[in-house]
Amino acid sequence: MSNSLATVFVDRIRSVVGHQPEPIGLHVPEIGELEKKYINECLDSTFVSSVGAFIPKLEERMQEITGARHAVAVSNGTVGLQVAMFLAGVEPGDEVVIPTLSFIATANAVSHCGAHVYFVDSETTSMGMSADSLRAALESFTRSGSSLINPATGRRIAAIVPMHTLGHPVDIEAIVAVANEYGVPVVEDAAESLGSFVGSKHTGTFGLTGMISFNGNKIVTTGGGGVILTNDEVLGKRAKHLTTTAKLAHKWEFEHDEIAWNYRMPNLNAALGMAQLDKYPRYLEQKRRLAAKYQAAFEGVEGLSFVAEPAGTTSNYWLCAIRLDEPSLALRDELMSAAHEAGLLVRPMWNLLHQQRMYQAAGRADVSVATDLHASLICIPSTPALAEAV
Ligand SMILES: Cc1ncc(COP(=O)(O)O)c(C=O)c1O
Repeated sequence: MSNSLATVFVDRIRSVVGHQPEPIGLHVPEIGELEKKYINECLDSTFVSSVGAFIPKLEERMQEITGARHAVAVSNGTVGLQVAMFLAGVEPGDEVVIPTLSFIATANAVSHCGAHVYFVDSETTSMGMSADSLRAALESFTRSGSSLINPATGRRIAAIVPMHTLGHPVDIEAIVAVANEYGVPVVEDAAESLGSFVGSKHTGTFGLTGMISFNGNKIVTTGGGGVILTNDEVLGKRAKHLTTTAKLAHKWEFEHDEIAWNYRMPNLNAALGMAQLDKYPRYLEQKRRLAAKYQAAFEGVEGLSFVAEPAGTTSNYWLCAIRLDEPSLALRDELMSAAHEAGLLVRPMWNLLHQQRMYQAAGRADVSVATDLHASLICIPSTPALAEAV
């Protein structure tokens, strides 16, 4: 039975991506003449580091795309998330609520703030943080003045960090509503969701602060990079100040007014990013068309279903995914092996964060939905150009 399911799995992917000689990667960046042109312009300018014309251009473009009042370019998404949490008030010794089903950076950014993670569950449709699991966790904590304290650790709950999984918007409005009830700020890990909206509002702009990643595997890449998003005037200015060594503007004096970071995105990376952003509307259109093709290809396949965007949202379909109707690590791995043998470089979800050795002692809610999702999801080739393969 599973053997034939593995065959069907491979065949249905092949029906969309065609028969190419090379192994087909999960998400391969498209680097062309425009990238080379902008990078050469950057090289010719000699402004290759943290000052240069491409950086503010990229920030402006990101403000246009997301509608955020401030977009601050940084050297990668992980440090962007760390600063986004810092700006939201996360301090050493605090606790931050995150989903266990996420990439390691979500938890590491908390640790880099000197804070501790508390894991909550996911919900099935978006695969992201469950507002119910969040509410149950916050209800189990105690109030002390204006703070919320985890009685098991005595730590203050300083932020809630939902993540938009594989580009599909989490139920962010419900999460923000719960967070507001308890007076805890929301920091959005929108690393994967450039081009994903809830209604007409871009992901990453619902919380106090947010972050989008431009890692090489994302829909738009700067090589390494990211942006911090916020609508808050003070935090926007502070994000730029803190990520550029807190240097006071002066023609020659090196006066800095606090201990800060050198997290600015280099101009060289921003040049690459601007070429990618010029092409991003096409990438987005292709990714959504590719998703529609996969959805049709897996229609009616017993035991497997295509992961579609949640109702009321528009997903960038960063990574298309197939879900086993019954969670099974054995079957998941069998399907993945068959795909790899056929040259299709599919991959599972990340190992759950509460099972990673650094985070096994952290507090957590019941995470059975995330556990099932981990055992039932397979990400399939999602490079935009695959939309034109067949
Ligand atoms: C959910 C999530 N959070 C954070 C990050 C960190 O971004 P970066 O790789 O740019 O540091 C990534 C991606 O890499 C991610 O997928």
